[in-house]
Formats: sequence, structure tokens, C-alpha cells
Amino acid sequence: MALSLSVRRDEPETVSGDALFQFLFEGETDLPAALSGADTRLNGAISELLSSGEAKGKLHEATTLHTSGALPTRRLLLLGAGKRDDLTPDRVSRLFGQAVRIANRKGWTTLIAGISTLSALPDAGSELLRAAVSGALVGMGRGDLYKTQEVKPDALETLILSGPNSDAWQADVDAGVTLGEAINFARELVTRPAADLTPTILAERARALGEEMGFETTILDKAALEEMGAGALLAVARGSVQEPRMIRLRYGAFPGKPTLGIVGKGITFDSGGLCIKNADNMLDMKTDMSGAAATLGAMKVIGALRPEVNVVAVCPITENMTGAAAYKPGDVVTALNGKTIEILNTDAEGRVVLADALTYAQQSGATHLVDLATLTGACVIALGHSCTGVMGGPQEWVERVIAAGNASGEPMWQLPLMDEYKEQIKSDIADVENSGGRPAGAQTGALLLREFVDDAIPWAHLDIAGTASASADTKYRAKGATGVGVRSLVRLAETMATDSPE
Ligand code: BES
Ligand code: MN
Ligand code: ZN
Repeated sequence: MALSLSVRRDEPETVSGDALFQFLFEGETDLPAALSGADTRLNGAISELLSSGEAKGKLHEATTLHTSGALPTRRLLLLGAGKRDDLTPDRVSRLFGQAVRIANRKGWTTLIAGISTLSALPDAGSELLRAAVSGALVGMGRGDLYKTQEVKPDALETLILSGPNSDAWQADVDAGVTLGEAINFARELVTRPAADLTPTILAERARALGEEMGFETTILDKAALEEMGAGALLAVARGSVQEPRMIRLRYGAFPGKPTLGIVGKGITFDSGGLCIKNADNMLDMKTDMSGAAATLGAMKVIGALRPEVNVVAVCPITENMTGAAAYKPGDVVTALNGKTIEILNTDAEGRVVLADALTYAQQSGATHLVDLATLTGACVIALGHSCTGVMGGPQEWVERVIAAGNASGEPMWQLPLMDEYKEQIKSDIADVENSGGRPAGAQTGALLLREFVDDAIPWAHLDIAGTASASADTKYRAKGATGVGVRSLVRLAETMATDSPE
């Protein structure tokens, strides 16, 4: 059941429910103002916890007190939030995610969150409230979509944000719900097995989203792709019995405003093709459409918040399989822009399908480009699972994208794009070849993409191979799909709406 969220004007310690949730900040031994009402009612129990050093406010430290009738909630949940000055929106998101996960585990139905602390902070409530609410929804998200036995329903039904001034909060709370639901939508798409999320089904999900949001929606089928000459996407699709699709969603008609092109890799299953992956490496390859999922998630938010910027989202969707008609090493494919690509490795399929998608986004009027792709294992080795790799140019645009990532709690790190390494993707027979071998694998993937981007168009490539999925539960989020990219893309679109992008 969906979490119901509401806002109350009352002091949080006067609202009834299963637990009241408040932050504790590290290094503050004096009782924070937000807790003084509760502390008085509890005969100084919170002050004692602080002065005895039993609760230190360290990030994610959780302390539960029973209130024995002193408060209208049966429990007080104190979550360590680290140092007050270090409280970022990202931390707030994670802390709210942790709070709802604790509530679900303990069987609490109603959680009251005291948020005067947030709205009193200098960086203003707005951003933090949005973060809090979206984080709570992300914390509710679960990966066990297919369980039929021993299913534990979510205990938590209601989250009440409580404190004076709450009138001003409703819009931010609503935006937080929109964002949290969109991240969970992206996570759900990634979690679906390939058999249940074929290219056709994913395209239908995109069409439904487009119709719901009033986007101009175009779904190109195989015949349309043949007609237009999208030879790269079609080549990858040949090994599958599933037909490919190209999705395009357009938002905004703001003359004089830039058009952000978002391109998301949508391989609904990557077997590697004839250069087949081994069992271990193939296991998670239903997630190879995480870029497309993030793109659709971001469009869901953009369609609801309606920033004053034009956006065109393009996702190439196909399986990469080994069928009798599969594309083969040595094949040369002609991309939508006329360039030829020699296929050295059928497992380097992401860059091949993105070649056509980048071209289509530019044909569709994109003035600025961001692409998101689970593109290379090399990026996972370079940056691990907490940091997305970024490559592109010009530098101002790359920095703008990274800034959007940092501000939204999605760490990004730029890798170089060395012109020298273009040697590695030079083909004897065609314009370029699709695999540059192992050295600098993340860069040679990006260099191939750059072949399909007009020099005049700012472009940033996000390699999310490491960050799209998490292999373990955390305090704030269930393992599996992370929805990475949704927050950063929304932030990027919003900043483009309010000021000029270069
Ligand atoms: N989808 C994979 C990349 C990937 C690896 C995503 C691990 C998530 C986790 C991609 O299509 C791929 O197979 N890339 C190859 C490229 C190589 C053949 C040049 C790789 O990274 O090994
Ligand atoms: Mn591959
Ligand atoms: Zn792939």
C-alpha cells in the first residue's frame, strides 16, 4: 500500500502516532530547541541521553525511547544526523529513508516527523523538505515484487510532517512525493525481469507515461526504424525475437529556451550477443536498461513540475541476443547519421544503439545533451558503485552536470577523454570500430559516442554501470535498482529553466 503523507501545523510532540522521529546533531550536548518540549514531558530523559554520551548524533545512529504515556506517541526515535552544518539534502533523504525502514521493521503504522529543524536551517526548508519526502518514499521501495509466500506487507501507512509554519511546506512535500515516486518507478522498471519488460512492454510503459503527462510521444517500431535508417540499433536487435523500439518524449514549448536532450540506454537484456558473457557477468543484465529507466523517471518529474525548459528524451530499446540472425564480429553497420561502425565485439552494444539515439535526439532539436548508460565494466573498476563516471565537453557543460549530481546526492567524477585513445577505435575497414579493448575502456566507449555528437552541441555522458544497482541493503534503501540519475536530471532541467546553460 502506498505511504500516505500529510502536513500538520502542530508542534510534533503533541501529535499521536506510533513514534515521533527527530534528528540529533553530532557535537551538540545542549538540548536542541526542537526537542525541548518533548524533553520536558519526558522528565529530562533526552537531556540525560545527551549528557551521558549515550546518544552522540553520529550519522545514522538510531536511539529509540519508550514514552510511557508522556507523549502522545508511544516511542521517540532519535536519528543521528551528523554535524548540523554538514546536513545536505542527500543526508536528509537517507535519514528519512532510514526512519521509514526502521518503522516497517518494527511494525509502526504511523510515524510523526518533527521538521522544524529542517525548515529553520539557513539553506531553507524547501530543498530539504523535498529531500526528506523523496527519501522516505525511496526507503519504502522494495525489490520483492514477485514474492507470493511469506510476503510481509509494509507496516508504515502514514507519515506526518509536523511543526509550525507547515502551510509553507505543502508544495515542497508534493514535489518530494513526485520525485520519490519517479525514482521508485525507475527502480521498478529496472527490477522487472527481461521476460516481463521486453522492448515492446517498455515502450508501452513510456507511451502511458507520455499520455499521462501530455508529452508529444513517438514510438518508432522496427519498420519505422528501417525506413529512417537506424542501422546501428537494428543491427543489435537482429539477434533477438523481440522487436526493437525507439522512444521519444517531448516536453515544453518555450521559445528562446534551450532544449535538453536526454538519451538513455535501454538494453532490456544484454547476453553479450555472439561474444557471449559468462554466467556470472550475465546475471544482472536485465538492469542494462537503467539509463532508459532514469530517463523516464526524470520525465515523470519534469512533466509534473513543469520547469520552463524544453526537454526531449530518447531511448533506444532492444535486447542483445544470440539468435541465428544476430550481428557478428566483423560486420559493418551503418548508423542513422551515415557513419559506419565495424563490430569487433557484439558485447559493446550500448554504444552502437546510443549512436542512433544521439543522432535522433539531435535531429529532434536537442541543443544540449546528456546520456546515461550502463556502458562499461571498466567504469565500475575505475569508480566503484558509489560514483558515476562523467565524460564529455565543453568543460562548462560537464561541470554543470556534475554540479547537478553533487547537489542531488548522486556523486559523479569526471574521467578524461584523451584524443590519443581515438587510435583504439580506428577501424581498417570502416569509420570507427565499436571496441577499443581493455585499456581506458570507459573512455573509448565515450569516444565512440562522441563520434555521433555534433561538435557544437554540449554533451555529457554518464556511465552508470556501477551506480545503477546496489548489491546490498543499506540503512536507507533496499538492495537492487537505485534509480540513479533521476535526481540529477531533474535538478539539471530545473537549473536550465532558471538560468542560461553556458
Ligand atoms: N552492459 C555492459 C556493461 C556493464 C558491465 C554494465 C557491468 C553493468 C555492469 C556493456 O554492454 C558491456 O558489455 N560492455 C563491455 C564492453 C567491452 C566489450 C568493450 C564491457 O564493459 O566489458
Ligand atoms: Mn554488452
Ligand atoms: Zn550492455
